[in-house]
Amino acid sequence: MAITNRNLTWDDISLTSKLLGAGHFGEVRKGTVIVDGERIPSAIKILKHGADDASTQDFQQEVDIMRHVGYHPNIINLLGVCIYQGQQYMALEMAANGDLLNVLRNSRVQKGREQAYPGNRSDSGALTVSTLSPVQLLRIACDVATGMAHLSSKEVIHRDLAARNVLLTDSLIAKVADFGLSRGDGIYEQTSKRAIPFRSTAIEALTLRIYTTQSDVWSFGILLWEIVTLGGTPYSGMKSRLLLRRLREGYRLPKPRNCEADLYQVMLLCWRTCPEDRPTFTDLVKQLDSMIDDKHSYVDIDKDDDFEYEVVDSDDSDNDGINDAFMV
Ligand code: ADE
Repeated sequence: MAITNRNLTWDDISLTSKLLGAGHFGEVRKGTVIVDGERIPSAIKILKHGADDASTQDFQQEVDIMRHVGYHPNIINLLGVCIYQGQQYMALEMAANGDLLNVLRNSRVQKGREQAYPGNRSDSGALTVSTLSPVQLLRIACDVATGMAHLSSKEVIHRDLAARNVLLTDSLIAKVADFGLSRGDGIYEQTSKRAIPFRSTAIEALTLRIYTTQSDVWSFGILLWEIVTLGGTPYSGMKSRLLLRRLREGYRLPKPRNCEADLYQVMLLCWRTCPEDRPTFTDLVKQLDSMIDDKHSYVDIDKDDDFEYEVVDSDDSDNDGINDAFMV
C-alpha cells in the first residue's frame, strides 16, 4: 500500500485507549486510519489542549518537515493530519516493536537463562547476553544511517538522534522518528533557550549551538555505542558541565569491551572535533553494509564470565529523555 500523507477527516481516524507515549506536547495513542479505503494501524500523536507555544511550534514544524522529507522506508512516515474540535492529530506509521532503547535493554539476557539467540551460543558454553544477533544489531545501525542519509539529502537536521528516537517495526526494520526538534535549513543556529540532550549532542552544538548534518553524525556515533552496549547510558554518572570540559580536552567514550576495534574506529570518526572531518551518512551506510557482509563479528555479544554490560543510569530509566537534558 502506498504511504500517502494527506488531510484526514475525523471519520478516517479511530483511536484506542493504548498509550504509546506521552510528553510536554500531549500523547501518542495506538489507532487506525483509513488510507485509500484501507484501515491501517497508526500511532496517532495528539497535541494537547492548551499546549505551550514551543510544543505547538514543534508539532507544526514536525508536520512540515515530514512533508518536505517525503517517504522513506527508514523513517517514520506521516500518514496524514487532522484538526477536530480545535485539537490537532498527526497520524504516523506504526512501528510495532517500539523504541530501540527499550528493545536493546530488553534484549539483555540474564546469565544462566537459555532463551538467547541460538547463533550466539559459543562452543565453550559461554552465556549469551543478547537475544539479538551481531548482524541484527549492525543491520539496525545501517537502517538508521540509511534513514539519516535520506534526511541529510533533504538538508534536514534531526538534532535529537538517539536510540530512544528510533522505532522498530515487527520485522525489526529501524525507522528514525521524532522530528519535533528537526530543522530544514542545512545549518541551524539555536537562539532560544531549550533543553538539550547533552549525552548525544555534538561538541560544537553544545558550545556554539551550531547544528548541521555533521552534528547528527556525532549523535549517530553515540547511537552506535548505545547499540553495542545494548542500551547503556553514555558517560554514565557524569554531569553535563564536566562532560563538556572533558570533551573539549579530547576525552571520548571508551571502547566497549564487546566492540571490535574497527567498529570503535567508526564511532571515533563520528566524534572528531572538526565536523568536516566526520564521515557522511552515505559513508557510514557503505561502511556498515560491508561489515554486515563480512563474516567477522564486530559486536561480540557472547562474553565471558566477568563481562558486564554498560550500566543504565537510574535517572534515565523512564526513557523520556527529560532527565537527560540540560539548558543552554
Ligand atoms: N510511539 C511513538 N510513535 C510510535 C510509532 N510510530 N509506532 C509505535 N510506537 C510509537
